[in-house]
Amino acid sequence: MKKYNVGIIGATGMVGQRFALLLADHPWFNVTALAASPRSAGKTYEQAVDGRWAFKVPMPENLKELNVYDAIADIDTVVSKVDFVFCAVDMKKDEIKALEEAYAKKECPVVSNNSANRFTPDVPMIIPEINSEHIEIIKSQRKRLGTKKGFIAVKSNCSLQSYVPALYPLDKFGVDKCLVCTYQAISGAGKTFERWPEMIDNVIPYIGGEEEKSEREPLKIWGKIEGDEIVPANSPKFTAQCLRVPVSDGHMAAVFVSFKNKPSKEEILDIWKNFSGVPQELNLPHAPKQFINYFTEDNMPQTNLHRNLENGMAISVGRLREDTQYDYKFVCLSHNTLRGAAGGAVLLAELLCAKGFMD
Ligand SMILES: NC(=O)c1ccc[n+]([C@@H]2O[C@H](COP(=O)([O-])OP(=O)(O)OC[C@H]3O[C@@H](n4cnc5c(N)ncnc54)[C@H](OP(=O)(O)O)[C@@H]3O)[C@@H](O)[C@H]2O)c1
Repeated sequence: MKKYNVGIIGATGMVGQRFALLLADHPWFNVTALAASPRSAGKTYEQAVDGRWAFKVPMPENLKELNVYDAIADIDTVVSKVDFVFCAVDMKKDEIKALEEAYAKKECPVVSNNSANRFTPDVPMIIPEINSEHIEIIKSQRKRLGTKKGFIAVKSNCSLQSYVPALYPLDKFGVDKCLVCTYQAISGAGKTFERWPEMIDNVIPYIGGEEEKSEREPLKIWGKIEGDEIVPANSPKFTAQCLRVPVSDGHMAAVFVSFKNKPSKEEILDIWKNFSGVPQELNLPHAPKQFINYFTEDNMPQTNLHRNLENGMAISVGRLREDTQYDYKFVCLSHNTLRGAAGGAVLLAELLCAKGFMD
């Protein structure tokens, strides 16, 4: 595989820092540009992040002296240095849409963590193991944008990265309705305990916009390409409650599900054990070998023990049992800034490279 020069827009933030760590020794990608807000522009990466590096592992040496550009004012410089960019910024939705489209229109593909374009009908929202075929909609998007190479592709919200992968492979039984309660880590808000001491010994029963994303985004993932857009599915029906819990990383979900044709417990376990997708077939660098890992012990999976499974790219499931109101209930876990954010975006970029969309 050829090497691609890549940029990180929002490099100073929580997800941006994760990108920096994941990309520092990536076999296909070489970080050649960093960008953030005007507050960080003109500083070295080390200066711009001073006092807010969020990880125990240090900042990669080869990035410390890179200049941080202004993502908007310096767009031409950034684009001249890269083949494509990753984007994770905290800005207003319309500003993010404008920023991502500006990069795409300059023939610079954007692989985004942001929610702003998730419901743009010709922007694919991908979990690579689940709906990789949706990348074909990029051809329609390029027609709309008037580009040859530029496009936007997004990953879905971190809250659903455990329960959608667990449910989607069971669809041959007709997943009918699903109730989910998520228990979400503070890094999902771009925070650490040092910067959010109110979260110590506390649970906050509200995460703005999260329940709507958790209920609505799965339907686009379940959707189909029709003409020049991805048409979301009508079912399964999802209802969600999302809670912020005092955990650094890792979103857990308690799931209740009913099927049109109820499978046996053994059928479900067999499907989970044998499930793999295009990233595994293509042997992409960030593809976990075993995507869905089922734990038989009653007190597993646990956030602290299992969030880093297969470098945080695998999901963990446990406690599958029959329910009194729904057919089954179970719990599942994924790492929110790895599989749920930067890692999921890196895997998506690998898929897009392998399928020729970055050339
Ligand atoms: N954290 C997660 O687990 C997670 C998961 C999935 C998706 N996301 C999404 O990823 C995005 C970033 O989240 P985060 O947690 O990394 O946020 P964060 O830690 O607050 O970082 C925000 C980043 O945006 C940059 N930024 C702010 N205003 C800007 C502007 N006007 N122009 C250019 N850059 C600007 C910041 O640069 P400065 O440092 O210069 O201010 C910083 O690099 C959000 O859209 C979020 O919803 C996060």
